[in-house]
Amino acid sequence: MTDRKTLTTTAGSPVPNNQDTWTAGPRGPALLQDYQLIEKLAHQNRERIPERVVHAKGWGAFGTLTITGDISRYTKAKALQPGAQTPMLARFSTVAGEMGAADAERDVRGFALKFYTEDGNWDLVGNNTPVFFVRDAYKFPDFIHTQKRHPKTNMRSPTAMWDFWSLSPESLHQVTILMSDRGLPVAPAFMNGYGSHTFSLWNDAGERYWVKFHFKTQQGHKHFTNEEADQVIARTRESYQEALFGGIEKGEFPRWTLQVQIMPEADAETTPYNPFDLTKVWPHADYPPIDVGVMELNRNAENYFAEIENAAFSPSNIVPGIGFSPDKMLQARVFSYADAHRHRLGTHYETIPVNQPRCPVHHYHRDGQMNVYGGIKTGNPDAYYEPNSVNGPFEDKSAQEPPLRISGDAARYDHREGNDDFSQPRALFNLFDDGQKARLFANIAAAMGGIPEEIAERQIALFDKVHPDYGAGVRKARAEFAGREPAISVTPATPQQAAE
Ligand code: NDP
Ligand code: HEM
Repeated sequence: MTDRKTLTTTAGSPVPNNQDTWTAGPRGPALLQDYQLIEKLAHQNRERIPERVVHAKGWGAFGTLTITGDISRYTKAKALQPGAQTPMLARFSTVAGEMGAADAERDVRGFALKFYTEDGNWDLVGNNTPVFFVRDAYKFPDFIHTQKRHPKTNMRSPTAMWDFWSLSPESLHQVTILMSDRGLPVAPAFMNGYGSHTFSLWNDAGERYWVKFHFKTQQGHKHFTNEEADQVIARTRESYQEALFGGIEKGEFPRWTLQVQIMPEADAETTPYNPFDLTKVWPHADYPPIDVGVMELNRNAENYFAEIENAAFSPSNIVPGIGFSPDKMLQARVFSYADAHRHRLGTHYETIPVNQPRCPVHHYHRDGQMNVYGGIKTGNPDAYYEPNSVNGPFEDKSAQEPPLRISGDAARYDHREGNDDFSQPRALFNLFDDGQKARLFANIAAAMGGIPEEIAERQIALFDKVHPDYGAGVRKARAEFAGREPAISVTPATPQQAAE
């Protein structure tokens, strides 16, 4: 073959032999001067980067967000104007499993979106559920520890999970969704995505509105039962990758309808629930969803590591016309993700092509590891500080969101005091038909297999407070389940408990 390329070292020099180590005599030993041998081994040792501390197992694809509705009176965001088309990346994930975990496991699914807008990257780093297990970021590391492996047994611990949940009634809403049919979707195409937090929209007139983002699947909801998922996992651990990647290769492009719920700024003072509480939804009857556009995924990554593993999503990435809200979980996330990326990917993670904005970028950060953009990003070597008199990049006051009135004494407020953790899970429970309820009870009974009785009872007392039928149903399912092999992997928290 004449057009075959020459293999080179990373420094560009032709490699004379890629089969045989350079040795002293045919039997060895190897010579230290075999630079290419050492180079290959050294590179292999550095092929892995830290996996995400959560959401390690994921599946992603590229696509487009097309705006078909008109919410221009609420926001100046260019990507949300009628007719706008914005290239985007989606990465779906499970929360708890490591990179090699099976796809078809019961877990919340991440639904992370990066929109490459004209005004910079807008990331919506949501889940397939509209609420979360905790409402205070102070508890996030504790919660995640219960989802990951026990430090001694190195196994996942249902005891730890239910211990934490039963002591955290704010988790009831999310636990109910997790244990319902929607806790185990068949593939990414068959689930909704939610921005989950309350964000804000603001317009040129300086008016602010609170907003919730929803992405409704156009493929319809499809779920596995635990038993079906066991069968799938026995066949393949990669069922989501097969479905998403394989579908797009075949020209089947999944779509979601983007909807928003809009709340006038002043309403936040009067709703019976805290609209910035991540364990609550805004009832549709109060704030009806408005159709805004369509998101379609239509292109697979050419290289999984470069474009999906290297993707760095962050709730801190907002653009003019979109803002944060007083949700204290959101503030913590605004800090946490960029910090995670600097650790996982490196200081200049935004220069990795998949993370690069598709608009001009000018800033005064400089040097450091991975600085591959040749110094500072100001377009002028003399403009390496600010303010300067050499016409260096300068702030744009039109990107400043309107002022937000806040008040209150600095204190550590008890978020459980006077908070109703039961009404919304009850509204959800009341939506379920008999079959859905029966599966909810059975899934909970299976997930509780092997945990201490006092923890189970403490949790079931919370279910009783949601609805007497909920607690009764779980009790009955547990009685039926007793002595049966659990449908999902259940391990005791400690070897002592295993022996008991
Ligand atoms: P609505 O009847 O107007 O809305 C019900 C919502 O529940 C729909 O968005 C529907 O999603 C979703 N839903 C249906 N079945 C399930 C399920 N098994 N697991 C999770 N979500 C499901 O009622 P409200 O707005 O008054 O909300 C009632 C309850 O519905 C809430 O307490 C909450 O638990 C749940 N919910 C509410 C959402 C909201 O933003 N208001 C969003 C998602 C859930 P779909 O249209 O895709 O079928
Ligand atoms: C991933 C922190 C709550 C959705 C991550 C990562 C961190 C993190 C550190 C790994 C990032 C990386 O290495 O790339 C936190 C903290 C939270 C929180 C501190 C609470 C205070 C939430 C909530 C949601 C969410 C409430 C959804 C509503 C996600 C998703 C990913 C992720 C989807 C994966 C993103 C991707 O695909 O790369 N989170 N998280 N997280 N988180 Fe959170």
